Amino acid sequence: MSDAAPATPVPPVKTLPDAQTVTSVRHWTDRLFSFRCTRPQSLRFRSGEFVMIGLLDERGKPLLRAYSIASPSWDDELEFYSIKVPDGPLTSRLQHIEPGDQIILRPKPVGTLVHDALLPGKRVWFLATGTGIAPFASLMRDSETYEKYEQVVMMHTCRTVDELAYGRELIESLREDPLIGEMVEGKLLYYPTTTREDFHHQGRITDNLTSGKVFADLGIAPMDPQHDRAMVCGSLAFNHDVKAVLEGFGLSEGANSEPREYVVEKAFVGEGI
Ligand code: FAD
Ligand code: A2P
Repeated sequence: MSDAAPATPVPPVKTLPDAQTVTSVRHWTDRLFSFRCTRPQSLRFRSGEFVMIGLLDERGKPLLRAYSIASPSWDDELEFYSIKVPDGPLTSRLQHIEPGDQIILRPKPVGTLVHDALLPGKRVWFLATGTGIAPFASLMRDSETYEKYEQVVMMHTCRTVDELAYGRELIESLREDPLIGEMVEGKLLYYPTTTREDFHHQGRITDNLTSGKVFADLGIAPMDPQHDRAMVCGSLAFNHDVKAVLEGFGLSEGANSEPREYVVEKAFVGEGI
């Protein structure tokens, strides 16, 4: 798989107190990769939270960006799922990391995509586009998700089929996992769609919810504020439009300080709406 930008050397960060070592890297497409790194012993986080990670810039200063932790809170290592922005200050370099390289990780996890920010319910919806699946990669691997809910629906939409691969493989491996597989079986419903390439399910998450297509395809009841909870992670425009759809079903937005029926997090900061 060819990378989008030519390799530039990654400055050493090992002298920094927040340095962590990369243990593996996988490139999924020209625009997407994931990697794992060591976990600071003191780092405790709730599945779904994000931290600041990065590299040193040319002047030796930390260049940090927010990243959802894609691994579950019980994992010995940390996993991240990343975009490659060709001219992006961080990812034009981060995409070239290799096992043994070091990254900076500020061990201060925060975020709203956590179970505590939702009222108890029967069914939870994870709604994501692109790299917005990262916090749900953590939550889907956490047994608390299956203890709290009778049903978990993961809707993930990308432009093309190859961009769905990280999520698809993760869910396949969950189903085969000797520990969590039984818990997931029958509870986790996966509904991937594409919008710009043929696939067995197509269309935007907003459209598939408002038309009722996703309920019909999965053979499940429509959203109901008494039992349904949702977590949303995508671009600003996606988050804005999904919020309107969820409010239309009668759900209201919650936060860590005030749990309600749904919560939202930006997958990245881009153009406004
Ligand atoms: P930047 O200067 O940060 O971004 C340049 C432009 O690239 C942006 O204006 C936007 O248009 C586009 N862009 C940036 N990130 C993305 C993306 N993820 N998908 C599509 N377009 C994008 N990024 C991840 O790849 N994985 C994550 O898990 C992740 N979690 C985040 C969590 C939060 C709460 C926030 C606010 C952002 C998150 N991001 C994530 C985005 C990340 O912080 C950086 O923006 C991204 O790594 C690109 O950094 P950069 O310096 O190369 O380019
Ligand atoms: P579409 O192809 O119809 O724009 P992007 O790569 O632009 O971030 O988009 C990722 C996915 O999210 C695409 O499948 C895109 O569909 C979809 N998407 C983008 N904006 C919205 C929105 N406002 N509401 C629903 N889906 C969206």
